[in-house]
Amino acid sequence: MRLSQCQNFHDFRRMARQRLPGPIFNYIDGAADDETTYRRNTEAFEACDLVPDVLRGVADVDMSVTVMGQKLAMPVYCSPTALQRLFHHDGERAVAAAAGKFGTMFGVSSLGTVSLEEARQISGGPQVYQFYFHKDRGLNRDMMARAKAAGVQVMMLTVDSITGGNRERDKRTGFAIPFRLNLAGIAQFAIKPAWAINYATHERFRLPQLDGHVDMGGGAMSISRYFTEMLDPAMTWDDVAAMVREWGGQFCLKGIMSVEDARRAVDIGCTGIVLSNHGGRQL
Ligand code: LAC
Repeated sequence: MRLSQCQNFHDFRRMARQRLPGPIFNYIDGAADDETTYRRNTEAFEACDLVPDVLRGVADVDMSVTVMGQKLAMPVYCSPTALQRLFHHDGERAVAAAAGKFGTMFGVSSLGTVSLEEARQISGGPQVYQFYFHKDRGLNRDMMARAKAAGVQVMMLTVDSITGGNRERDKRTGFAIPFRLNLAGIAQFAIKPAWAINYATHERFRLPQLDGHVDMGGGAMSISRYFTEMLDPAMTWDDVAAMVREWGGQFCLKGIMSVEDARRAVDIGCTGIVLSNHGGRQL
């Protein structure tokens, strides 16, 4: 299967399954706890009706919208996604370039494999920075200051990932960063040599948002230990209110799932929320 043959999401997914080693495909494709929430998310989207208003004169279509103060050419933007260099050696560079080409916003993850500064240069458009709240308040302040200096327009704090999700597929394959695969997982890499060759012959895997603070790429800490040891499970609305004040710009809470929490987000000065259950990957 080739890229030019992909007509929809399902085609891309099939191609990814063919090309990626099983543990990596299953990391992106999988979710937590029987994947019930993941399935229900998909069903909820499928059950959504779009009812067009007819006869509005649509010879010239303007799809632009303003989201969190950013003018986007279309009502879709790239949500922050971790570890993109694992999925393809061009990783965030390719996605940021596509966001720029279509005039929309690009989201960089704290666990991104390209620096937020470089991603900004590539996309040229507005940028969201996805942030995790650490126990180390100094680290939080440093990361915010860096994002501010880089000209990031929207700070987006993820509040649904205070602990790592129970991802059963990852447990079966032994997926972890750094890699700690079981025998079956290693065999999966061996039968996808093209991925392995590309991985080995391109730039080293890095996590530039965290490199200065956590030795993850180097192997001292795994992503799941990062979640359980470095993120602050004691985080409260007061902590986020302080963060909103310190940022002093567009601030979005990602992972809101109730009306009550949406109201509280507005009360503490958030300018946006993302309705999200992390793709069913957490709870
Ligand atoms: C995930 C985290 C890293 O869903 O956002 O895998």
